[in-house]
Amino acid sequence: MTEPILKLTDVSVQFGALRAVDNVSLNVSPGERRAIIGPNGAGKTTLFNAITGVLPPTAGQIVFDTHPISRMSPHRRAALGIARTFQITNLFPSLTVDENMRLALRGLKRRKFSMFGTGTLDPDENTLATRSLEIARLPTRRQVLVKELSYGEQRQLELALSLAAQPRLLLLDEPAAGLSPAERSMVADIIRSLPRDLTLILIEHDMDLALGLVDFVTCMFEGRVLVEASPNDIRANSAVQEVYLGKARHHG
Ligand SMILES: Nc1ncnc2c1ncn2[C@@H]1O[C@H](COP(=O)(O)OP(=O)(O)OP(=O)(O)O)[C@@H](O)[C@H]1O
Ligand SMILES: [Mg+2]
Repeated sequence: MTEPILKLTDVSVQFGALRAVDNVSLNVSPGERRAIIGPNGAGKTTLFNAITGVLPPTAGQIVFDTHPISRMSPHRRAALGIARTFQITNLFPSLTVDENMRLALRGLKRRKFSMFGTGTLDPDENTLATRSLEIARLPTRRQVLVKELSYGEQRQLELALSLAAQPRLLLLDEPAAGLSPAERSMVADIIRSLPRDLTLILIEHDMDLALGLVDFVTCMFEGRVLVEASPNDIRANSAVQEVYLGKARHHG
C-alpha cells in the first residue's frame, strides 16, 4: 500500500463548548480524489481550515507528505504544496485577472511587492498564469477587471489562482455553489480535467455532482466522520440518507 499523502489522526477543532471537528481521522492517498459531504454545520470547512492552518487543530496530528504540519503556519503549508479555494470568493474585484494572478503568485514567494504596480507578470509567472487559466477555461479574460467577470468566471479564477501555486494537494470548498446548471457542469468538467497526480479534496453539497467526480467519499455529521465509502456505497447508505433527509425535514 502506498503511504497516504495526507494523514489526520484524531483531529479536533474546538470553539468554546462546540467541537466543530471532533476526533477526525482520515487518510488520503497520493492522486486520490476525495469528496467530503455532510449537512450544513457538519464541520467540513473547519476541517479544511485545520488542514491549511487557518485554524490550527486544538488536538490531534496532521501529516502532509511526511511533514508534521499541525502547528505549521498557513504560509509554510502552502509552500509544501497545499492550496485551497474558498466557499465564498476571495478576490480583488477592482483589479484585473492578471493582477489577481500576480498578487497570488507573489504572495506565495513572500517577496516584497507593490499592490499598485502595473500588473505585469514576469515570464515564469506568465507561463504559470497561462497554463492555470487554460485549465480553468478562462484564457481570454486576463485584462478584464474581476468585478466585470460573471460569478461563475470568478469561481473559475479562484481555481486558476490556486492551480498557479502548483499544489500537490488541492482543497476545493463548494466550487460549484451558487452556479447555474450549465456553469456547474463546466466546473465538473474542469475538475475532471485536472492533472491526475494532483490530490484533490472536494467539499460539495450536491451529491450527484460530488459522487461523479471522486474515488472515495467521507460523510461528516456533527464534527465526526459518519461514513467513509465508495460513491456507489454512499448513495445506498442509510446513515447518509438519514442525515440528508433529516436535514431536509428540518428545513420543511
Ligand atoms: N470561527 C468560528 N467560531 C465559532 N464557531 C464556528 C467558527 N467556524 C465555524 N463554526 C461553527 O462550527 C460548526 C461547523 O462549521 P463549518 O463551517 O465547518 O461547517 P460546514 O460543514 O462547512 O457547513 P456548510 O455546509 O454550511 O458550509 C458550525 O456549528 C459553525 O457554526
Ligand atoms: Mg462549509
